[in-house]
Amino acid sequence: MKYRIIVLVAFLLSLTLIICNTNNIVRWFNPENNKAKTTSFSESSSTKENTTETAIAYWQPKPVNLITNRTLKEQVNYGKELIAHTAKYLGPNGTVLQITNGQNCQNCHLQAGTLVFANNYGSVASSYPKFRARSGRLENIYKRVNDCLERSLNGKALDTTSKEMQAIVAYINHIGSNVPKGQHAAGSGLKDMAYLKRAADPIKGKAVYVTKCQSCHQANGEGVLQPDKVEYSFPPLWGKHSFNDGAGLYRISNFAKYIKYNMPLGVTHENPQLSDEEAWDVSAYVITQSRPHLEVPNDWPDIAKKPIDYPFGPYADAFSQKQHKYGPFNPIVSSTKK
Ligand code: HEC
Ligand code: HEC
Repeated sequence: MKYRIIVLVAFLLSLTLIICNTNNIVRWFNPENNKAKTTSFSESSSTKENTTETAIAYWQPKPVNLITNRTLKEQVNYGKELIAHTAKYLGPNGTVLQITNGQNCQNCHLQAGTLVFANNYGSVASSYPKFRARSGRLENIYKRVNDCLERSLNGKALDTTSKEMQAIVAYINHIGSNVPKGQHAAGSGLKDMAYLKRAADPIKGKAVYVTKCQSCHQANGEGVLQPDKVEYSFPPLWGKHSFNDGAGLYRISNFAKYIKYNMPLGVTHENPQLSDEEAWDVSAYVITQSRPHLEVPNDWPDIAKKPIDYPFGPYADAFSQKQHKYGPFNPIVSSTKK
């Protein structure tokens, strides 16, 4: 009973937050604003985005209802559905295959991968295939989607020719088709944030978690399943049903950037609620908890290309694994610049 009340209160809280932000959502869904705003990859820099914040018109997805071909429209809609409700089709109780941990792609790519700075897919169609240092090779969108299936959803890859993979890729390609090839869509992916001068602190982070996250994601971090046990109302942040340690979100900078501008659910990048310190510390707390492990012996074939917050050695520098996991990062940045 107590448990149900907590879930209800959390739900109402999230609704209020969402309603408070309706203006943003409406503006952003408006198909008239459908012209993508882009910069070339070389020019785009986060500092520029930060300083001219109010002047920037962010990328908006190309609306699905503009598709005239009926077969294509059905396929794209199915792709969107798979991203929004992945577990219904591919989760432990999925109707098509049972190959994932029960999370939805949308848990980390908000609003089916279309929301500004909520890890959206704005620049995917325009930039893939691209070289990725993690694998050390040219990757197409299929490979990138399967990466998230195997890591973020701690699951198995989809056959490239399957109806589901074809639909997911058709959707991602469609919504990003208003971005010219080679260009970066403004507001796509995650928003940059500054490093702390100190290491991120899991103990301080626990206090943040208790007051700002636990009502939804639960004290044990395992989230809340809906009563039919198919999809989560609140996804797990750690534990055996969460993303594994090979996932992008396991890197503290990705985690911090995602939550700073998107959590508690309902905040936007324009009105974040967490301070930078809170964001880094709570990220440190979450990545300190246990989660599934993935063996990735082929990742980062060139160790000099590892991101500075990649939490597993060996490294091309002399900094410890702990410092690479929690910071402080500025000394590592300046040493690699030399
Ligand atoms: C637990 C969180 C999480 C889930 C769930 C998740 N992803 Fe991701 N995804 C990420 C993160 C974080 C990145 C960026 C990682 C990086 O840059 O290192 C990413 C990147 C991507 C990219 C590349 C984006 C770009 O701009 O290069 C694609 C495509 C993608 N995900 C698709 C999917 C699909 C499809 C699903 C569901 C099958 C999914 N993801 C589920 C966290 C997640
Ligand atoms: C009001 C409820 C609520 C609160 C409070 C909340 N979240 Fe979330 N969070 C959600 C929901 C719901 C999702 C999934 C969103 C979706 O699928 O559209 C989510 C998704 C996430 C994700 C990506 C999915 C995953 O499983 O990894 C992370 C990370 C996350 N939250 C971290 C946090 C952190 C850290 C805090 C505290 C600073 C927090 N959340 C506070 C409701 C909440």
